[in-house]
Amino acid sequence: MCGIVAYIGEKEAYPIVIKGLHRLEYRGYDSAGVALINDKLNVYKCKGKVADLENFTKDKDKSGTLGMGHTRWATHGEPNDANAHPHVSQDGKITIIHNGIIENYHPLKEELIKRGHTFKSDTDTEVLVHLIEDIQKNEKTDLAEAVRIALNEVIGAYAIVVISQEEPNQLIGAKKGSPMVVGIGTDEFFIASDATPIVEFTKNVVYLEDEEIAIIRRGEELKIKTIKNKDKTPYVQELELHLEALEKGGYDHFMLKEIYEQPRSIMDSMRGRLNAKEGIVRLGGLSDYEQKMINADRFIIVACGTSWHSGLVGEYLIEDLARIPVEVEYASEFRYRNPIITEKDVVIAISQSGETADTLAAIELAKSKGATIIGICNVIGSSIPRMSHAGSYTHAGPEIGVASTKAFTSQVTVLTLMALSLGRKKGTIPESRFRQLLSELELIPSKVEKLLKANDQIEYIASLFKDSRNFLYLGRGYNFPVALEGALKLKEISYIHAEGYPAAEMKHGPIALIDEEMPVVFIATKKGAYEKVVSNIQEVKARKGKIIAIVTEGDTTVKSMADFVIEIPETEEELMPILSVIPLQLLSYHIAVMRGCNVDQPRNLAKAVTVE
Ligand code: AGP
Ligand code: GLU
Repeated sequence: MCGIVAYIGEKEAYPIVIKGLHRLEYRGYDSAGVALINDKLNVYKCKGKVADLENFTKDKDKSGTLGMGHTRWATHGEPNDANAHPHVSQDGKITIIHNGIIENYHPLKEELIKRGHTFKSDTDTEVLVHLIEDIQKNEKTDLAEAVRIALNEVIGAYAIVVISQEEPNQLIGAKKGSPMVVGIGTDEFFIASDATPIVEFTKNVVYLEDEEIAIIRRGEELKIKTIKNKDKTPYVQELELHLEALEKGGYDHFMLKEIYEQPRSIMDSMRGRLNAKEGIVRLGGLSDYEQKMINADRFIIVACGTSWHSGLVGEYLIEDLARIPVEVEYASEFRYRNPIITEKDVVIAISQSGETADTLAAIELAKSKGATIIGICNVIGSSIPRMSHAGSYTHAGPEIGVASTKAFTSQVTVLTLMALSLGRKKGTIPESRFRQLLSELELIPSKVEKLLKANDQIEYIASLFKDSRNFLYLGRGYNFPVALEGALKLKEISYIHAEGYPAAEMKHGPIALIDEEMPVVFIATKKGAYEKVVSNIQEVKARKGKIIAIVTEGDTTVKSMADFVIEIPETEEELMPILSVIPLQLLSYHIAVMRGCNVDQPRNLAKAVTVE
């Protein structure tokens, strides 16, 4: 996974490419590079972030109206200068940037070595540019044809851009399994991993399908063909993305901005779908498949990371409200364990990015067995929605911080709407309960607003625990997935080891960890298994653990036992995760900031995991 961006037109390419790389840096950030063609080809690349690349190129010749850039997340070869993209061919004339993995790079490389090629990096990518060069020389083709032939020999996933000093009026892009969008401006074209580098220049875009090649030549129209040499008519779409949504808007970090956006993003997830007064819930994107969903033998939710946690909340919601059996699977496990899937199964894929490789592969598998695929995704036009039969966008707006926050609450919101709508149609929710949940759901954005006022208090608690080495997060029922999510948030951005558990499981092992050094975060809101959680708090207290409790406003029982309490507004049990997760997002944010961590781009991670 990585970010790629390319430009051909009348403007200087470098500033456009660099700006685009900054926008894409969330996708990968261990090294970066650019290639620019003026009369000759200049390639600059180095380990580090886009800012390091800018430093590195300070005194270099950056002219050229054809150019491309890459921000890498290494899969093959450590992050260093040599492995950074772009990679160049043997004769130094052709250059490539690549997002993905060339799985058969090893045999290809051996073959090319036999034919006299030498390699400067450990990457799989470099092999592809040498292969293209080799084909072009042997078959005497133009660059586009050489790329096409080469891609027929490649196994794996790719989004590539290729340019050549010999053909300076041409930009070639191709993709399979990794995303790629082409922007069409006036006398200029853009290629990027997502639309964020393009939006300020043009709203007209074409999303490439797998195994398609975009051939862009100055003064000509965009041409698309498949790697099997079939011409395709470009399907031009209008972008809905707005530039303001991509800026930090006065916040220190995207993550904080995105936490604070939640009253609005949750509202946006419900907009046009919920009318409490009239008693209406409607997910337009699902209408053609709703009957199929109601008749399904079971739902299988596939997802990774935070999206998997929202899937767990979905399991509780759908089983409770619509009485349909639900299994929640890690996409990565599901795809490799020969699962039993039938045509009567509905598979729900949840993903912020819509590009997660494991989730994509899981739905491909389920689709091949005849299951119906429903996508719940945030990024419009991304691969998962395009591969699904139907679905609902979460409409949380672009999430840039690598740690997912607003995407989670929006996913849970959409799952709640889905469960309510199905339950209503199936008749599994009494009318009064249905109405009550609808009215309460409508109030959630304002409750989140209120809850965010606890920020200073949470920051203070963070200051007391920032040096802890371990954390335990415990919750039950609807709050159990929230415990998992709280622990994930903390570990990914602060690098503190944290575990989430169902509170009652504590006594089956984790309780051995508890001493006066161990902070335990309890999500102990009223309703559900509240009394039981209170007993678990007693057990931790008896062993001198430090207790931070998330409680319902006005709770005095837990207050008398806990070291710190964070109050959240009362709501229905089914809706609680949307509220109870928010203090945990803020707690991990502040701890990470205080520890000097890079909150928006934590080490070793990337926003969209487009590799296995
Ligand atoms: C969340 O904070 C993580 N960065 C990660 O677990 C993420 O949720 C996971 O990679 C799935 O991504 P997706 O929602 O884009 O599919
Ligand atoms: N596989 C390539 C590499 O390791 C590309 C990785 C990426 O998508 O950033 O360099």
